[in-house]
Amino acid sequence: MKVAVLGAAGGIGQALSLLLKTQLPAGSELSLYDVAPVVPGVAVDLSHIPTDVKVKGFGKDDLSDALQGCDIVLIPAGVPRKPGMDRSDLFNINAGIVKNLVEAIADNCPKACIGIITNPVNTTVAIAAETLKAKGVYDKNKLFGVTTLDVIRAETFVAEAKGLNPANVHVPVIGGHSGTTILPLLSQVEGVSFSEDEVSQLTHRIQNAGTEVVEAKAGGGSATLSMGQAAARFCLSLVAAMKGDNVVEYTYVETNSDDATFFAHPVRLGKNGVEEILSYGDLSDFEQKAKDDMLDGLRNDIKIGVEFVAG
Ligand code: 2OP
Repeated sequence: MKVAVLGAAGGIGQALSLLLKTQLPAGSELSLYDVAPVVPGVAVDLSHIPTDVKVKGFGKDDLSDALQGCDIVLIPAGVPRKPGMDRSDLFNINAGIVKNLVEAIADNCPKACIGIITNPVNTTVAIAAETLKAKGVYDKNKLFGVTTLDVIRAETFVAEAKGLNPANVHVPVIGGHSGTTILPLLSQVEGVSFSEDEVSQLTHRIQNAGTEVVEAKAGGGSATLSMGQAAARFCLSLVAAMKGDNVVEYTYVETNSDDATFFAHPVRLGKNGVEEILSYGDLSDFEQKAKDDMLDGLRNDIKIGVEFVAG
């Protein structure tokens, strides 16, 4: 299995690369690309960890080499939020970065599964899809917006609120990856019930958890370590599924539903990426209303991405 991390020298990229170096199956290869000159050093640093995962660093002129033969490409490249910013404020810089990187994927490893982490994810996934379509290599089963961070936050916060071990708590999170488009389905958490107040407070906290980190870092960026963990979990699930395991993760994919072109669902992963998009089941009245209220915003985020590539 060969995995590339594009933006590997950044905060998310380094955390993610460390987790992959220690957790990818023996015999895997890790290709670390960044425009920052420190990237060969990050690769050398990681290469001293004694696991059977080969690590190689690639500088800004070596993107094509970094992508050769990759099965999975993860993209955390781009700029993070500062306090007061919304994820959509990152659009002007990050949209072009994602488009350029995805063009290179189309040219060098068009069959790879792609995990988009760069914000605004609601929009950058649409940019990636349109870019791949323009290159004639789009496969909707191989493009994912990584929303796993919303899931792990939801699991943590529910466990905290109910005094449970977070390892045993599973919380479905559907929709997108920004504000109210993040929709945790607390009504489906097994063995736990919530008061109306708890539902409203927990939902609000999960939706604003990224901002909680941005404010706590006070200008120093957004979530990097928890995002690295989330992206590693997603990548390792994908690797396991590509090797034949039965794995379901919540992730933002192209759907045929009436909700929006892209929507996070429970997805059965397999050898070729998406094996089956599963239903997210019945919603409570609170969740149904929250979904109805956010759909226009999510559809608009997607439209902005489509229009960006159309020019
Ligand atoms: C977050 O939710 C960085 O979007 C990421 O914190």
